[in-house]
Amino acid sequence: MNDQQYLWWQTGIIYQIYPRSFQDSNGDGVGDLKGIIKRLDYLQWLGITAVWLSPIYPSPMADFGYDISDYEGIHTLFGTMEDFDELLKEVHNRGMKLILDLVPNHTSNQHPWFLESRSSRNNPKRDWYIWRDAKEDGTPPNNWLSVFGGSAWEWDEKTGQYYYHAFLKEQPDLNWRNPEVQEAMFNVMRFWLDKGVDGFRVDVMWHMIKDARLRDEPVNVDYQPHMATYEQLLHVYSTDQPEVHDIVRKMRGVLDEYKERMMIGEVYLPVHRLIGYYGVNNTGAHLPFNFQLLSLPWDARQIAAAIDEYEGALPANSWPNWVLGNHDQPRITSRVGLQQARVAAMLLLTLRGTPTVYYGDEIAMQDVAIPFEEVQDPQGLNMPDKNLSRDPARTPMQWDSSEHAGFTTGKPWLRLHRSYRRRNVTIEKEDRYSMLCLYKRLIELRQKEPALMTGAYIPVYADQHALAYIRQDNGASKYLMVLNLSNAPCYFTPKNFPFTGRVVLATTPELEGLTFTNTLALGGAEAVIMKIE
Ligand code: GLC
Repeated sequence: MNDQQYLWWQTGIIYQIYPRSFQDSNGDGVGDLKGIIKRLDYLQWLGITAVWLSPIYPSPMADFGYDISDYEGIHTLFGTMEDFDELLKEVHNRGMKLILDLVPNHTSNQHPWFLESRSSRNNPKRDWYIWRDAKEDGTPPNNWLSVFGGSAWEWDEKTGQYYYHAFLKEQPDLNWRNPEVQEAMFNVMRFWLDKGVDGFRVDVMWHMIKDARLRDEPVNVDYQPHMATYEQLLHVYSTDQPEVHDIVRKMRGVLDEYKERMMIGEVYLPVHRLIGYYGVNNTGAHLPFNFQLLSLPWDARQIAAAIDEYEGALPANSWPNWVLGNHDQPRITSRVGLQQARVAAMLLLTLRGTPTVYYGDEIAMQDVAIPFEEVQDPQGLNMPDKNLSRDPARTPMQWDSSEHAGFTTGKPWLRLHRSYRRRNVTIEKEDRYSMLCLYKRLIELRQKEPALMTGAYIPVYADQHALAYIRQDNGASKYLMVLNLSNAPCYFTPKNFPFTGRVVLATTPELEGLTFTNTLALGGAEAVIMKIE
C-alpha cells in the first residue's frame, strides 16, 4: 500500500485549450469563454482534471494573446469578466481545476506600463523595460536576435534609445531586475488567485532574466540555413541566467500564500538545465514542462534513454511530467503518423508524471495546410521561407460533421482540416477503434490504477522496435507496457525477464483479455498494457 498523499496536479491530467479555436458561441469565427463553458461536460466525460487556457486577456493580438495590454481583464473577443467568473465556477462545480497562462516576460507595446516607459527617459517606469543607448555607430547595443526573426532591439526615435524584445517588437521585455516590476506581476498573480484560479502556466520562464552586462552571444557553429535565424547564436546570455531562479522562487512564494495552487514553467532546455527550475528543495516551479517527446526522433532506444535520463536527473521529491503537443509545435499525429500517434497516447498516459494533452490530439487532429494568403502566425509571416508558421496546429476543434465542425456558425479564423467530417468528437465517441476511445480508456485506467497514476517507473527493455517498462505501486500491482515504435512486426522476448501478463488495454483492442507468457509478438505500431500476474 502506498500511503503518500498526492496533490491534484500530481494525480491529474492537464488539458490545454487554445481559446481562439475551441468553441465559438457568437458566430464571429473565434472561440470564446461561453463556448468553453458549453464544452466542459465533454472534458469531464474524457476524464480531464485541469484545464489550462492560453491567454484570454486584452491584447492587440500581434502574437495572438501572448502580447498582453491588461493583465487583469478579459479580451472582448473571448467575453467578459462575468463570463470568466462563470467559467471558473462551472469548472470547479465539475471537480476540475483551472490554470491560466501568465506572460510575465514581456507585455504588449500597448500596455500602459510601456506607453509610460517610452514617453520619456526620466519617466518613473523607464526602467521597467530594457532600454539601452546605441553603439557609437548607431547600431544596437549587442548582437542578440529575436526568436521571431531579426534583431532583438528596436530603435525608439522619440527618446533616442533601443529597447529589447525577445519576441516581436510589439512584445517589449520587462526588466525583472527591477523590484517594482516584480511586485506588480506578483499582484497580478494574487488578483487571479484571489478569484480562485488554481495555477499558472508561466510563459518563457527561462527568458525572464538576462545577463546584467548584456554581453554578445557566441555564434552557433551548427546552424543550418533551414533553421530559424534565431538559431544562429547560442543563447547563453539572453536566457537561463542564474538569477532567474530567485524570481521563480518568489513567484512560488506568492502561490504558497494560497492552498494547493501550482505553477508550470515553459522551459525549453536540456534536462540537466531544466531540472534547475524545480528550485532548491522544490521551492521553484511545481512542473517545469518536460518537452523531450516533442523533439526526440520516434525511436524506442532514444526515447528509453531520454526517460532514464529524466527519471535519473529529477531532484528528490520533485514530480515529473510529459507533453506530446502544444500550440507552438507540429501535432503528434502529423509528426509520427496516425498509427504511431496511438502508441504515443499510450506512452504519454502510462509514463510516470503528469500528462498534458493538447486539445484535439485526443481525436487525432492533424496539422492543417494553411494557404500562404491565409497565414496568421507572426512567426510564419516573418520567416516565410522556413515553414515555421504555427497555424497548422491551432485550427478549430472538430466537434461534429456539420458545417465548420460545430466550431462556429460564422467563418472560422483558421480553416479546418478537410477530413473533419470523418474525424470529430461525435463520430469518434461511437467508434471503439477511434483515437478518442483510446484516450478515454487510457485516462480511465490511469485514474483508477494507483500503479499507473503514481507508481514507480522501472525500465525493462528497448531495441530498434520495442520499448518496455513497468509501473508498480509498492508491490501491490504491477503493469508492463510494451510499445512497438516501429511500423514492422516485432517480438518481445526478454532473456532475463520472465513474465506472465494479461492484456488489459491495447492499441488493437483484439489483443485485450489475452494472456502472454515470456514472449509477445506485436504488429507494427501495436502497443499493450499488461497486468502482471
Ligand atoms: C511562448 C508561447 C508562444 C509565444 C511566445 C512569446 O513560447 O508558447 O506561443 O509566441 O511564448 O510569448
